[in-house]
Amino acid sequence: MASGQMSRAEALARSDCRHACHVMLYSDTKSRLFGRNSMRHIILMQMRFDGLLGFPGGMVNPQTETLEEGLSRELLEELGVAISVSVDDHVESRILPPSFPSSSSGSNLVLHFYVKKIEEDKIKEVERAAVCTAKDHGQEVLGMVRVPLYLLKRGAGGLSCFLSQSFIGNARLQLVSALLRLNLLAPRDVHRALTHSLRMQR
Ligand code: GTP
Ligand code: MN
Ligand code: MN
Ligand code: MN
Ligand code: MN
Ligand code: MN
Repeated sequence: MASGQMSRAEALARSDCRHACHVMLYSDTKSRLFGRNSMRHIILMQMRFDGLLGFPGGMVNPQTETLEEGLSRELLEELGVAISVSVDDHVESRILPPSFPSSSSGSNLVLHFYVKKIEEDKIKEVERAAVCTAKDHGQEVLGMVRVPLYLLKRGAGGLSCFLSQSFIGNARLQLVSALLRLNLLAPRDVHRALTHSLRMQR
């Protein structure tokens, strides 16, 4: 098991931790880029107020709400749409390594990650609501972005460029792991994108 990883129950039993829940919302799509490259899936991330890319979600207080209730509350604030996320959508919980740059200082932070597949129409509704009705638009959240799930320019463009951006916490790892686990992109392409992105950073 990767370092810092624990079960949902183990994490909740720890009284010395604060908790944050984030979710990768995605759908299938038949749309194509320039009528050629299949877009395969729509995966939603967001540009945060701090200039970093991350998943929608946020701090949850297990004293007053379940992890999933808290996550749904955050989604309403940040996306303007009520999306119920359940225990079944939980993927992993892990303590953020102290070395990770994080905007929440002080006590230990457990990051709970969820993945939920929804309809393409629902994704589009989220994208509209995130701009029009979400309370946090323009403040905590500067905009929703779709992950480019393809390689361009001999592998240097598309997902490679996207992965070379700066991400909050371990959101980059969460994204890459989900791509592999759910087989949303061929493993060979995921690895090519990672290799290119490392060359582009710094
Ligand atoms: P406030 O309402 O301003 O407190 O923000 P929030 O509740 O929406 O919290 P936020 O989404 O910023 O998440 C809280 C903490 O979780 C952040 O400070 C990061 O350390 C971490 N975090 C945020 N987004 C992600 C993400 O996509 N993945 C991971 N792994 N961690 C994240
Ligand atoms: Mn929030
Ligand atoms: Mn948030
Ligand atoms: Mn919050
Ligand atoms: Mn907030
Ligand atoms: Mn969009």
